[in-house]
Amino acid sequence: MCEDELIPPQADMTEQEWLHTGSATTAGEPSMPTTGRTVPFVNRRTLLGGAMAGAALAVLPSPAQSPASAAARRGAPGAFPFPEHPNGKGEFAILVTGDAGTGDEAQYAVAAAARDVCQAERVGLAVGLGDNIYENGPESDDDAEFQDKFEKPNSGIDVPWLMVLGNHDCSGLIPGSGGDPSRGDREVAYAATSRRWYMPSRYYSVPLPAADPLVEFFAIDTIPWSSYVAQVDPRYRWDGPYMREQRSWLDGALRASRARWKVVIGHHPYLNNGKHGSAGSYDGFEIGNYTSGVHLKDMYDGVVAGRADLILSGHDHTLQILEPTARTGGTRQVVCGASAKTEDGKAHFGHPAAWQNFSDHGFMLLKVSGARLTIEAYTVDVATRKATLAHRTRQTQPVSAPAGAHA
Ligand SMILES: [Fe+2]
Repeated sequence: MCEDELIPPQADMTEQEWLHTGSATTAGEPSMPTTGRTVPFVNRRTLLGGAMAGAALAVLPSPAQSPASAAARRGAPGAFPFPEHPNGKGEFAILVTGDAGTGDEAQYAVAAAARDVCQAERVGLAVGLGDNIYENGPESDDDAEFQDKFEKPNSGIDVPWLMVLGNHDCSGLIPGSGGDPSRGDREVAYAATSRRWYMPSRYYSVPLPAADPLVEFFAIDTIPWSSYVAQVDPRYRWDGPYMREQRSWLDGALRASRARWKVVIGHHPYLNNGKHGSAGSYDGFEIGNYTSGVHLKDMYDGVVAGRADLILSGHDHTLQILEPTARTGGTRQVVCGASAKTEDGKAHFGHPAAWQNFSDHGFMLLKVSGARLTIEAYTVDVATRKATLAHRTRQTQPVSAPAGAHA
């Protein structure tokens, strides 16, 4: 069972609804209202969600390990190193993939096409935007799925992969529910034995290059705020210690960053024209503080918007390069979740887009220099395993660059 088959899209919020959803916050101050939003209607989706929540109560998550909040290279012996210098083209080139972990032919085809582009473009780093292991994450720290759904398809893309958790990585009884966050700890543990898979903790940052960063990546865990069921482990509840700590960490990390460009990477999008919709109104239903992503929206509004140049997300199996707007404070949302699956071929919402595609498989490249940030979208023909450059967007002004950062 997959959530895609269960929940049809609903109308996204208007600008006014967007602005008044959740509690207004200032940057870095967690908003933790004591009551959830009112369930606006009771229909099939609401009843379904209730049934899913009830089912989740029968399977209590195991205790979670304490997440570290700082990145340290803790990969296996021989782990592929982070690039220390721009490539021969004067840029750091980064492969961006999402929702890839099916183990099916389409994943292998997209990875093969990406491998050719990575070699031509001298890519030195890759990003995996969650749903790394379908349908309900790994069963152990060394599950064979890590080989079949990550290592084998990505063979030859021999760079560090910044991995984030998706809802399918953190599910137990109900695949895709996101109702068992502790399962994500297995993906953290796997990083200790993989040359590619980088996930030193459930959320972390990576400055590049480390000594004098030009770009910094902030990997976040969006799952407990966007799950299709209520969280039953107190640690992972919407107002529990884990999400409070993460929000505080992200605020401090963005503030402290000396990088010219700042990129937040997380599974669930802030804005989205695909069928799942945007944070605060995901899938048109909610269970108290969950499912709609109302608290994730609050975090994006209060901590990320206007402070990061990009938010890279998956979850929707589409390719979207949205435009920065007043709503986002100049932050650009990019959705890149078509590395193994595709969607229904049409836009469901109308957020301004530089380019978007709802039909094809694909991936993106991010190219970073002091002068510009470039996003390239590639579509892939699965039958021939060939990639086509479909669109290129460039921006030259960071949203917020500290004094003394690279120019
Ligand atoms: Fe997802």
